[in-house]
Amino acid sequence: MTEREVHDSVAANVAKWTKQNAAYTDGRAQAAWQRDDLTWGVFGVPEGAVAVVGDVRGLDVVELGCGTAYLSAWLAKRGARPVGVDPTPAQLATARRMMDETGILFPLVEAPAEAVPLPDASFDLAISEYGASLWADPARWLPEAARLLRPGGRLIFLTNSVLAYLCSPDEGKIVDRLVRDQFGMYRITWPGEEGVEYHLSHGDWIVRLRASGFAVEALRELQAPPDATAHPYYDWVRPEWARRWPAEEIWVARKRAV
Ligand SMILES: C[S@@+](CC[C@H](N)C(=O)[O-])C[C@H]1O[C@@H](n2cnc3c(N)ncnc32)[C@H](O)[C@@H]1O
Repeated sequence: MTEREVHDSVAANVAKWTKQNAAYTDGRAQAAWQRDDLTWGVFGVPEGAVAVVGDVRGLDVVELGCGTAYLSAWLAKRGARPVGVDPTPAQLATARRMMDETGILFPLVEAPAEAVPLPDASFDLAISEYGASLWADPARWLPEAARLLRPGGRLIFLTNSVLAYLCSPDEGKIVDRLVRDQFGMYRITWPGEEGVEYHLSHGDWIVRLRASGFAVEALRELQAPPDATAHPYYDWVRPEWARRWPAEEIWVARKRAV
């Protein structure tokens, strides 16, 4: 993508998330900041079931697209030193209010994941939960994540599964058949939406991760737990669907030493 296209993509997503933030109540962020357990995705798969994060004590962590930063808060409670990065001032303002309320403090940086104003090799873990992983251009943010990590550092990110993308019609909820092409998938603005999302095939993620200096360690395809119920806000996928097929996936990669 050209510089202009990256600029336009970031601007569209900041506009979208400024509006989304206005719809978020602080109560929703408060609930997320107060949780002691970590769960993944719309159906709350427990970290214990996927075991992707592990012991974070003493780790320098950068969260790329931190939003309201509850994941960074969880990491801080477990002894990590997180830094939250997000380009949307309103989202960072919510995160700051949560810091004031909880006393859990860590730095926040206003920037897109495509260009992060932090030093090379300064983190042990880069993480994204529907942040950069969905809303930033992988051609730019994966090399940035690699630059920010120390050799041997890990990258963990959660995003929609490839199958979920392929089964998502232009409008309405996910269906149980393929309705879009896999070849050529990369960047999409859904009809009626202003945000720009990035969806890659598994093969393309692997190519881009390797080109950025990562070795892929795991791809965890999330299954909705038996007792999962529809998410109150993110209801694009039903639990019945996500018990049969993966709607979301977590990638784990490690920055190669050389
Ligand atoms: C689903 S929300 C954040 C997820 C976060 N875990 C949370 O629940 O608050 C998506 C976030 O991605 C951010 N975002 C949008 N474009 C981005 C970009 N280019 N780089 C990094 N983050 C971006 C938005 O500002 C928004 O805060």
